[in-house]
Amino acid sequence: MPLTPPPLSLYVHIPWCVRKCPYCDFNSHEGRGALPFAAYVDALLADLDFDLPLVWGRTVQSVFFGGGTPSLMPPEFIDRFLQGASSRLRFAPGCEITLETNPGTAEHGRFEGYRNAGVNRLSFGIQSFDDGCLQRLGRIHDSREAEAAVKLAQDAGFDNFNLDLMYALPGQDLAMAEHDLQRAFALQPTHVSHYQLTLEPNTVFAARPPAGIPDDDAGWDMQEHCQALLADAGYVQYEVSAYTRPGRQCAHNLNYWKYGDYLGIGAGAHGKLTLGHDESILRRWKHKHPTRYLAEAGNEAVVGGDERITPERRPFEFMLNALRLVDGFELATFEARTGLSATMIEPQLRIAIDRGWLVIDAGRVRPTDLGRRFTNDVVALFLVEPASKT
Ligand SMILES: C[S@@+](CC[C@H](N)C(=O)[O-])C[C@H]1O[C@@H](n2cnc3c(N)ncnc32)[C@H](O)[C@@H]1O
Ligand code: SF4
Repeated sequence: MPLTPPPLSLYVHIPWCVRKCPYCDFNSHEGRGALPFAAYVDALLADLDFDLPLVWGRTVQSVFFGGGTPSLMPPEFIDRFLQGASSRLRFAPGCEITLETNPGTAEHGRFEGYRNAGVNRLSFGIQSFDDGCLQRLGRIHDSREAEAAVKLAQDAGFDNFNLDLMYALPGQDLAMAEHDLQRAFALQPTHVSHYQLTLEPNTVFAARPPAGIPDDDAGWDMQEHCQALLADAGYVQYEVSAYTRPGRQCAHNLNYWKYGDYLGIGAGAHGKLTLGHDESILRRWKHKHPTRYLAEAGNEAVVGGDERITPERRPFEFMLNALRLVDGFELATFEARTGLSATMIEPQLRIAIDRGWLVIDAGRVRPTDLGRRFTNDVVALFLVEPASKT
């Protein structure tokens, strides 16, 4: 079965934030003093040049500036990066270009600048519209500032934007979670990401969990209730945490979930690339610390690691992504993206179908409601342990 290079995306990591949130395990560093944006753009372009031979001749279908807080970076730097990137890579017509935005960094003129640079989608880290919750989450903005930031972006012509909300927050009850959604709907986002707060290892919250985190049952009730509210408001769920107005799915994230390819540029960025010349799948990641990244971008030393994904591991990786999607995947896509025949996963599919976790219809595999509740167990069926050495 040949590996077919799938659509290609570009991820760009901006590693600084005004302040580190106590729940966050992203590669984000509190930026002190003037941040070296000009040098960072040079480093990003050098990093891109270094990876370019891996994607010769391919077209980029989406770009995502993630963080950290990309909206800390003034528009002229985003503009210079995008100009440099589009002179090195072919961007598809209508290429989705998203920039993650912390409402606490919004200021007049900034959004016009991003639009002029080519950004056509924003993703706001709102988290909650309750000022008590925002404070307990250590956010740098209150609810009024969050609404004002979204309105500034709308005035600048952004009509395609996502709001990130979290639920099961310390001190939050069902009515408060509902209220957060109502305030979000009033801003008319095209997309809502609705995440359950998780206590990630090596965060302040993991070391000292805050009081008042709703228990599992309460968290589950919130999820079910909010799913219904989102549906009533016209937001269609297409992934575990992603809800969209018709036709406004995030193309960039969809490409991850469909086991597509992506270049990862920037401190700590991860990439996944299908290489035609030797029929392999490569995962490559860059060093995490901004200072080291700035010093080493553009040469081999910036690569934190390269890993070839063995054929045995591909079904697990594919399922880890594709089974997040409400619509699941086509067996033909499994074959094209993994280079493996679908007959190889028949035994596991059969078990999952027998347990009521998956259904197959006309070559498409979909998780059932039960399967979506037990995604980890379903995905684990496809994990092949490496043979132990004797
Ligand atoms: C990189 S951040 C978004 C942009 C920006 N840094 C901000 O926070 O405003 C990505 C999103 O992941 C979610 N997130 C981060 N840590 C989380 C956690 N521990 N549990 C659940 N969601 C989390 C938040 O909703 C956050 O907005
Ligand atoms: S602003 Fe966003 S990336 Fe930065 S620490 Fe907070 S959640 Fe993490």
